[in-house]
Amino acid sequence: MDIRGPRLRKPSDEALAFTSSMADDGRIARKVILVNLAHMVALVRAGEVDRKVGARCAKFLAGASAEILPGAKAEDFHQQLEQAAVDALGVETAGFINYGKSRNDQVATAIRMELRDSIIALVSSVAGLQSALLSQARKHGAVLVPGYTHLQRAQPTTFAHHLFAHFDAFQRDAERALQLYTRVNLSPMGSAAMTGTSVKLDRRYVAGLLGFSGLVRNSMDAVSSRDFAVEALSFAAIAALDASRLAEELILWSSAEFGFIELDDSYAASSSIMPQKKNAVTAEMARAKAGSVIGGLVAACAILKALPYSYNLDLQEITPHLWRGIDDATASLSVLAGMVASASLMKGRLNSAVSGDGSTAVGLANYLVSERGISFRQAHAMVGELVRASAESGSPLQEVAVSRLARVSADLGKKVSVDRVTIESLLDPQRFLERIATKGGANPRSMLREIRQREAVITSTRSSLSTLKAELTASERRLRATTDGLTREVKSVD
Ligand code: ARG
Repeated sequence: MDIRGPRLRKPSDEALAFTSSMADDGRIARKVILVNLAHMVALVRAGEVDRKVGARCAKFLAGASAEILPGAKAEDFHQQLEQAAVDALGVETAGFINYGKSRNDQVATAIRMELRDSIIALVSSVAGLQSALLSQARKHGAVLVPGYTHLQRAQPTTFAHHLFAHFDAFQRDAERALQLYTRVNLSPMGSAAMTGTSVKLDRRYVAGLLGFSGLVRNSMDAVSSRDFAVEALSFAAIAALDASRLAEELILWSSAEFGFIELDDSYAASSSIMPQKKNAVTAEMARAKAGSVIGGLVAACAILKALPYSYNLDLQEITPHLWRGIDDATASLSVLAGMVASASLMKGRLNSAVSGDGSTAVGLANYLVSERGISFRQAHAMVGELVRASAESGSPLQEVAVSRLARVSADLGKKVSVDRVTIESLLDPQRFLERIATKGGANPRSMLREIRQREAVITSTRSSLSTLKAELTASERRLRATTDGLTREVKSVD
């Protein structure tokens, strides 16, 4: 018997292929089976379906394959599964499977379940990348690197301080994802097509069997809303953007122009024509993926825009964008972790990049304010004059400062002279950094503390992830045990 029923004649092959979600349902198929199981258990518990009938259905569902055969023709996996049950058990038995539920609440539930796993995977890639950043900070954090604004050298900083900047951005990605988890972890089941159902289902019981912490309360909202998918694509897009900025720096820093890092060969590719080439292709791909994820986010928003309530098949079109976006972001973070951990630092090159280029000039200006009582704007002008003279004459800033500060400052209205030793100390990059007094700044003395704090952050993320994973495993075990209890009755019946 065809479960589509007698209402319509057969769909055209073209229309069926066009509207079917079979090609994308593999991702949620296992979850769809679990939802069917939980629903059947709840039907029996409520006395809505005879125990023996329920037991036979549960036994079939518990053994059902989540594999989607290539070329299988159906509207979706939901239909294929029920059809397979009817074919196997007969409609008198399997015909109860969809009692009190709809594909509308079922698909929303299965997507939310799958998304829980995907969020966990994304956050654990974030933690992996963060821990790669910290491993570099532990090894080479004290090395001084040029810091940039406008991609012009601005001030020296420590390698660790630069790594922390990326770390902290990725931490917000993890936090955004974990906050969404609580909004995703709510069950739509019991909403049926859109108004709920006369079948006396205990929604909380079903939710518990599926590991949800609560319900999407309003049944129309439960079947129609995909803002959670847009939110997931948003944080995936932001994480991919953050990853692309790191990727871009790996590409720049490994170029001959910068020459600050050497990437491990295992993340690079050569050229088919230029024998000397070493291209940072893995980072290029991570940079590009951000574009794809943003595309998925925009697609999801555009599909949802002005969609009338409640369920429309348009919603089906959002789902593959969701998986692709979140998987791309996760893959970028994960591959970057390996790239970061295995990169080597070109210390000689970095050392010459931070010495004697005037990028500590503000240190001298601040000294003129704090020790000589000059206003910052005047001090800025004095040091600016010295920098200009240094650029024009080609001699280092500190030499020019030693020889000309007295005259330049006098010309600007307040004569000061500072001895050579003090000037050299003020302009020295390491000392410059050691004088930084503000929290979160680049002072190397706070580096170890900053590393340790961030290690604790990773530990706490990982422990949240273990808790979530343990909850999911336990709920599935409970569902399986409950189902087993029911299916054992089949044997005594048959
Ligand atoms: N394949 C659909 C999806 O992914 C499942 C729900 C279909 N509902 C319906 N009434 N046709 O969204």
